[in-house]
Amino acid sequence: MLGIATSLMVLATFALFERGAMAEMGLPLAATEAAHHYDALYSFLVWISVFFTVLIVGGMIYLAYKYRRGRPGNTKLITDNHTLEILWTIIPTIMLLGIFAWGYKVYLLQTQAPASAYEIRVVGKQWSWTFQYPNGKITNELYAPLNKPVKLIMSSEDVLHSFFIPNFRVKQDVVPGMYTSVWFEANVPGKHQVFCAEYCGGSHSLMITDLLILDDQQWMDFIEKDKEFTNLARADGKPDLRMVKNTEPSGAASGGSMGGLSLEGKKLFESRGCVACHSVDGSKKIGPTLKGVFGHEVKFVDGKTAKVDENYIRESIEDPAAHIVEGFAPTMPTFKGQFKETEMNALISYIKELK
Ligand code: CUA
Repeated sequence: MLGIATSLMVLATFALFERGAMAEMGLPLAATEAAHHYDALYSFLVWISVFFTVLIVGGMIYLAYKYRRGRPGNTKLITDNHTLEILWTIIPTIMLLGIFAWGYKVYLLQTQAPASAYEIRVVGKQWSWTFQYPNGKITNELYAPLNKPVKLIMSSEDVLHSFFIPNFRVKQDVVPGMYTSVWFEANVPGKHQVFCAEYCGGSHSLMITDLLILDDQQWMDFIEKDKEFTNLARADGKPDLRMVKNTEPSGAASGGSMGGLSLEGKKLFESRGCVACHSVDGSKKIGPTLKGVFGHEVKFVDGKTAKVDENYIRESIEDPAAHIVEGFAPTMPTFKGQFKETEMNALISYIKELK
């Protein structure tokens, strides 16, 4: 009876935690809706662990004392108790399945970016971050609009890094040779902290930068008028880490070409010879046309299919023999190492827009 009552109580707190009523103890500022859901789950797991630790260790101490050596009288021998065994199997199973379902829900929320998300490309490099915006702007601090979904498409120029924004509860490996992504919709304006969360060499600890969440007016000023907002105060009121920020030149000039990221990609497409074999108007050349391929299925000579995304295009450029599109011969040479990460981003951004 006591077991059932306890478990019901614990399950009832699910609802309470899901609303965030008891969440967020001792955690950094939560600056997205998803972060609040994450915190609710996190604090639920902490408190349920505390609850069972106290229950089990407390019970052990109590029973050790109650049945201590030398106390009068013997207890009768108990060999089994089916009711108890069924209860301690079923109740934890239901609770764990509940935790799994909750965790899965939060996981989906954190990993499935809305299709309308504003895309910013991120390049990690020992030991700084570079951000590329659709209009061709390049910065070393990340700027993003308030209350709008933003998707980061990330890659690395050298080794493994990990992109971490504590206030948004997002952390994702940044891997050379492929694209990974995170997304967020910030609801607290101001300056937030970005860390590299994976040891990546000597100055790993200096691979930090600012994330500046701008309101509508500031965002227009930033994106159209090149205005900087690095003096904004930290949103959580903590000291600014900028003093210890890596000051080594990172190679990414602020400003960038204002012709647009895809325009930059178009220039590369033409100057590096892609255009010799791939049309952009749907006509057939030596290689398949790139018009409208992004987001669509392609069929390969072996009958398999794949959806064209950033990673597929990258593979086709670096390892063209890996997948041969039906109706074409494996004649394309590899272009591995011939594009910088920022150039690859521009090129893919251009191909993505060939509707
Ligand atoms: Cu980059 Cu640690």
